[in-house]
Amino acid sequence: MDRFTGKTVLVTGAGGGIGRACATLLATQGARVAVADIADEPARATAELITAAGGLAHAYTMDVTSSQQVHDTVAVAQDDLGPITLAVSAAGIIRDQPFLELSEEGWDTTMSVNLKGTFLLFQTVARHAQRHGGGAMVAIASVAGRSGRPTAADYAASKAGVISLVRSAALALAPSQITVNAVCPGVVDTEMTRAIHQRRARINHITAEESFAQQAAQIPLGRIVSPTEIAEAAAFLLSPTASTITGQALNVCGGLEMN
Ligand SMILES: NC(=O)c1ccc[n+]([C@@H]2O[C@H](COP(=O)([O-])OP(=O)(O)OC[C@H]3O[C@@H](n4cnc5c(N)ncnc54)[C@H](O)[C@@H]3O)[C@@H](O)[C@H]2O)c1
Repeated sequence: MDRFTGKTVLVTGAGGGIGRACATLLATQGARVAVADIADEPARATAELITAAGGLAHAYTMDVTSSQQVHDTVAVAQDDLGPITLAVSAAGIIRDQPFLELSEEGWDTTMSVNLKGTFLLFQTVARHAQRHGGGAMVAIASVAGRSGRPTAADYAASKAGVISLVRSAALALAPSQITVNAVCPGVVDTEMTRAIHQRRARINHITAEESFAQQAAQIPLGRIVSPTEIAEAAAFLLSPTASTITGQALNVCGGLEMN
């Protein structure tokens, strides 16, 4: 299925688990992919995976919290790969700290990467997509943004902010035929979650696998979501099939969150 043939997508956090899954899936469906991450080696590895499979991708080192870097990357990527009308915001961080131990600096950093980073990406790509007749953008938010997290207040607040940002951007950009949506993953098997479970396993004197299993047992469908399953939802929301869906936040979480 080549539903993205002729399109260029910029994926942030594309060296990480979910970003890489989005980048590679979109490439298999015909998209040219600008692979952006603050970590250059993982970004290059994702681009190499895509080119090895016959797709077209370039890797860019970019910090989503820097408007200058976002602007410059979009400009260079457009020269390399053509007009960018699609975007996935998958760059993100979590610190897993109890509320009373969360520092001001920690709060600011999480907000900057997760929320401001999504804003800068969407605003920059939208300005270009407008000139090319429209586009589609997806933020990887989180079910944490639907409720609260005692050990991730900064993270949950940033993701609630992303869901709100998606709605505002969707309203602002609808006249330009640019859709904006969020995917809200539950628990996905990536470096981010593995690091949390390794830490919790040490505290609780169990293995990381046991810690993962405890969390999976709380999921109605009884299993953790794969990065590819998140990418499938993001690809749907970017595709022409979803052209009348905008301002929505889709939970992909095995039934963990229903609001
Ligand atoms: N893994 C989960 O269970 C889960 C659940 C809900 C939401 N999410 C969200 O999905 C997104 C992807 O997470 P993941 O699980 O793939 O984690 P990950 O740690 O594997 O990937 C995150 C990527 O973001 C990059 N990054 C971090 N700061 C950056 C910055 N300032 N500029 C550019 N890139 C930066 C990292 O280098 C990394 O490659 C995140 O927004 C995360 O909050 C993940």
